[in-house]
Amino acid sequence: MFRKKVIAGNWKMNKTATEAVALAKDIIGEVGRETSVDIVLCPPFTALAAVAHVLEGQAVKLGGQNMHPEKSGAYTGEVSAEMLRTLYVTHVILGHSERRTYCGETDAFINKKVLAALAHELKPILCVGETLAEREAGSTLAVVQRHVEGGLAGVKPEQITTVIIAYEPVWAIGTGKVATTAQAQEVHAFIRDLLTKLYGTTLAQKVRILYGGSMKPANAAELLAEKDIDGGLIGGASLEARSFIDLVKAADAAK
Ligand code: 13P
Repeated sequence: MFRKKVIAGNWKMNKTATEAVALAKDIIGEVGRETSVDIVLCPPFTALAAVAHVLEGQAVKLGGQNMHPEKSGAYTGEVSAEMLRTLYVTHVILGHSERRTYCGETDAFINKKVLAALAHELKPILCVGETLAEREAGSTLAVVQRHVEGGLAGVKPEQITTVIIAYEPVWAIGTGKVATTAQAQEVHAFIRDLLTKLYGTTLAQKVRILYGGSMKPANAAELLAEKDIDGGLIGGASLEARSFIDLVKAADAAK
């Protein structure tokens, strides 16, 4: 089954608007017309408008790092799906482990965001993954199952192929400790099996499942060669044009 690879950069709380514009320009200078890989840049909210302007007419897509499920209201510090849409945002990262950990986000709340994103034609990048303690306790697959089933509750068959799932083992994020290809593929295959049970083989085969956690040009080719690894959600290595472009090239070569 052919699935177009995705390389998404999660810039987290890095880059002022000016710095973000410079990075986006450097990236599109090399990969702006690259169409064999879906490329998504996810700057902080404060840089979305400026980066949207740089990406106008380019193949590179724009993503948010979070959103609130409600349409509007008294939610200080939050942004809605519609607000993202008006900035030409097409994707949104939801349920990142940093938000689960630091902001107490639960599967039920993340699920509301997934449904709200889909209702506004935003493509959710739903993050799932276990902590080191959970892996050591042997509960990796149970945790991932809870995150996937909880996050996708109520997502209809006709919507599922617009959802991207990112498997990000928490112990591999920002630590330099990448999961082995076998560890990653095991969980990716497990997620695809779950999707098959929920949505049937045809649809499950179309869903892109990304790996995230210390993915770099040096380890990307090996990970991307695995049958169920359809791209990467990149933190640290997305903050420099050179390494991000090399990751796009690795995905292009692996297609
Ligand atoms: P690093 O690539 O810095 O490990 O971060 C991964 C991540 O959290 C992407 O969302």
